[in-house]
Amino acid sequence: MLERLRPIALGYVPLADMIGELVREQERRHAHIAFRFSAAATERSYGDSIDLTIYRCLQEGLTNAVRHAQARQVTIKLSAETGRQLTLSVRDDGCGIHPGKIAGFGLRGMQQRVEGLGGRYTIDSEPGNGTCVHVTLPLPEGPTVGPCSEAPGRTAS
Ligand SMILES: Nc1ncnc2c1ncn2[C@@H]1O[C@H](COP(=O)(O)OP(=O)(O)O)[C@@H](O)[C@H]1O
Ligand SMILES: [Mg+2]
Repeated sequence: MLERLRPIALGYVPLADMIGELVREQERRHAHIAFRFSAAATERSYGDSIDLTIYRCLQEGLTNAVRHAQARQVTIKLSAETGRQLTLSVRDDGCGIHPGKIAGFGLRGMQQRVEGLGGRYTIDSEPGNGTCVHVTLPLPEGPTVGPCSEAPGRTAS
């Protein structure tokens, strides 16, 4: 239930903090994996759809890295070019996606969310050489949506 409710804080809590918290949660659960997280030049919020898409992509990318990769290290980067694009990457040093493996609901869901916002989703993986999920979302020009600007009661999924 927590997992469904928590994104409601998006838009109220800065995106970078929400994402940092997701990473710390995995750190607490998987002490044998080293997580590195950096967020460069990011606004508080980019509006509901973008914030939620980044949040969900990171959630799935992290879950996959800890569940499937046998990674020792996972590196997460969030960076923004104002008025242009927002980029998230999740890189692990694990076993890579087995060749011939068909994307499941997790990877396909990520792709659909990203492409639905006109963004780009790529996944680079080599057997024995880790996996990198890369998401780029275009940003609208002009000022970004500020925090607490939406009426309460909106839904997040
Ligand atoms: N980071 C990763 N490292 C190794 N294998 C991965 C990674 N991410 C995904 N995979 C492989 O791709 C498959 C599909 O992933 P996904 O669509 O998220 O479905 P699910 O996680 O439910 O199996 C996984 O079952 C796994 O075999
Ligand atoms: Mg998955």
